Amino acid sequence: MQFTDLGQGAHLELLQPHHAPEIFELIDSSRAHLREWLPFVDGTQSVEDTKRFREAGAQRYARDGSFDAGIFDGGALAGVIGLHWIHMGNRSTSLGYWLGAHFTGRGLMTRSVNAVLEHCFSELNLNRVSSAAALGNIRSNAVLQRCRFQLEGISREPEWLYDHFVDHHLYGILQRDWQAARADRTSRSGSDSRSGNDSSSRAS
Ligand SMILES: CC(C)(COP(=O)(O)OP(=O)(O)OC[C@H]1O[C@@H](n2cnc3c(N)ncnc32)[C@H](O)[C@@H]1OP(=O)(O)O)[C@@H](O)C(=O)NCCC(=O)NCCS
Repeated sequence: MQFTDLGQGAHLELLQPHHAPEIFELIDSSRAHLREWLPFVDGTQSVEDTKRFREAGAQRYARDGSFDAGIFDGGALAGVIGLHWIHMGNRSTSLGYWLGAHFTGRGLMTRSVNAVLEHCFSELNLNRVSSAAALGNIRSNAVLQRCRFQLEGISREPEWLYDHFVDHHLYGILQRDWQAARADRTSRSGSDSRSGNDSSSRAS
């Protein structure tokens, strides 16, 4: 995924080493917001920390093709979405994401997740994308549900967040779920346009 247009002036772009200062600034300006649900914030105290993180990302990309993409809105970095790993034998991957505090509430992440799912299922021909959200992370659970992930279970205390463990909701979406959702969207937009009620511009 080198570049994907999300419409309305937003796009996804593969993160490169030169993005490190911009990523650090976004994390630094959103510490309280990100810290509530992400474990890497306190360990990110300088651009050098972000550079090291990006180097590990580049190694992952070289090893199995899993990537991190910047979410850009009007040219500014708004957040990050990425695949933690890709297992080609099982045709599966795992998705994670975050937005800077000032970029929430506009549907940017919903559009980004849908774009990455399209890439995973149509370009990479994967069968499964999994993700997880802490039980109390209402907004992240809502993103996954809007993007038609199915809730598959609860994992007890898989993550340590600075001073406490959190339980995770485990989600998955399969290639056939995605294809069925796409066929559903197409048939709904067809019947809406026949009835003169075009809902295709409303994002899901
Ligand atoms: C999780 C996170 C990315 C969700 O951000 P978000 O802004 O709620 O998600 P979206 O960008 O999809 O925006 C959805 C919101 O925009 C609104 N919206 C506006 N236009 C929209 C559109 N075209 N499509 C979808 N939603 C739209 C929705 O109603 C929703 O608002 P609401 O929650 O007030 O109802 C963000 O809260 C975050 O980064 N949190 C901290 C890090 C984190 O938790 N990461 C995930 C760890 S599992």
